[in-house]
Amino acid sequence: MLRAHAGFRALLLGALLWRLAAAGNLELPTAVNVTWSSINFKTILQWQPKPSGYFYTVEIHGQTSDTQKKCILTTETECDVTDALRNVKETYTAHILSVQSAGMDNFEEPPFASSEKFTPYNQTILGKPEIQNYTQKDSKLNIVFQDPLTPYMFLNGSFQSIRDIFKHDLEYKLYYWKDQSSGKKEATTKSNTFEISVDNTNNYCFYIEATIPSRRENRTGQESMVFCTSVGRTILDEYGAEVFIIIAVIAIAVITLAIVLSVILCKRKKAKAAREKEPLNGI
Ligand SMILES: *[C@@H]1O[C@H](CO)[C@@H](O)[C@H](O)[C@H]1NC(C)=O
Ligand SMILES: *[C@@H]1O[C@H](CO)[C@@H](O)[C@H](O)[C@H]1NC(C)=O
Ligand SMILES: *[C@@H]1O[C@H](CO)[C@@H](O)[C@H](O)[C@H]1NC(C)=O
Ligand SMILES: *[C@@H]1O[C@H](CO)[C@@H](O)[C@H](O)[C@H]1NC(C)=O
Ligand SMILES: *[C@@H]1O[C@H](CO)[C@@H](O)[C@H](O)[C@H]1NC(C)=O
Repeated sequence: MLRAHAGFRALLLGALLWRLAAAGNLELPTAVNVTWSSINFKTILQWQPKPSGYFYTVEIHGQTSDTQKKCILTTETECDVTDALRNVKETYTAHILSVQSAGMDNFEEPPFASSEKFTPYNQTILGKPEIQNYTQKDSKLNIVFQDPLTPYMFLNGSFQSIRDIFKHDLEYKLYYWKDQSSGKKEATTKSNTFEISVDNTNNYCFYIEATIPSRRENRTGQESMVFCTSVGRTILDEYGAEVFIIIAVIAIAVITLAIVLSVILCKRKKAKAAREKEPLNGI
């Protein structure tokens, strides 16, 4: 009877300690505003707030792959999880664990915040394509550009491009327009070149963006820089109308000055001639 009583008290104490430990953990703030940002498969998780007196550990849960821990006991509020998302077609969820210290890590399940689901293949943003060269000749505008690279490598150590991952799902869109006009035309390609027919007496400007037509969201990527061709540039195009106006104004000023000066000189000459005549007249 007495022994049973002692056992019961021990149990109670244990339960109390357990509650206390759990309460200790529960008091830790959990992360809020957990966001994925991912470009060309480089993926960073970010959250709030800055921890004080505790740490964060990120757990990546896939559907089929094992749970992976990243940024273990970090005091940062972001974590590069690119390495943990190699299986790009899988859908992942991240848990941001709030952890007191290294010792408490295995004691019990720490409180955590969950991220939204993230599927790299469907959601990573397509970065800007890099334009390599372009020419406008014989009414053809030719453009050569490169696929953006991902942080993932082949076994031989060279970086995989987004084409190596998206394969036939990847397309590029070209937007082009006559310089100084606003009517945009577009073209698409599955290769790394565009060849389009243009009016050779005009300069053209253009930019390119990658696109995955099969996606439902984040279908189009970031725009490349804008480039403009410069065939058949006249002096007016090169220097602009302002320079001509300035030259004209100066020319008019010079001519006016010349006329005014010659008129004054002419009058003086006449006056002098008149004065020289006067004495003769006087005699
Ligand atoms: C979370 O995001 C909301 C809305 O963007 C913002 O008002 C809030 O301050 C953020 N929380 C923290 C802790 O930064
Ligand atoms: C782009 O450069 C490559 C090699 O530098 C060249 O072979 C190709 O003809 C160029 N293309 C254009 C459109 O200028
Ligand atoms: C590495 O391998 C990939 C695919 O197998 C190939 O496309 C690439 O050219 C290779 N790179 C080098 C530097 O050999
Ligand atoms: C990814 O996108 C494809 C095509 O839109 C869709 O069939 C698939 O269900 C998406 N996967 C996820 C996990 O959302
Ligand atoms: C990606 O798509 C989602 C859903 O439409 C949208 O909220 C988000 O802003 C898009 N991201 C970018 C960078 O366009």
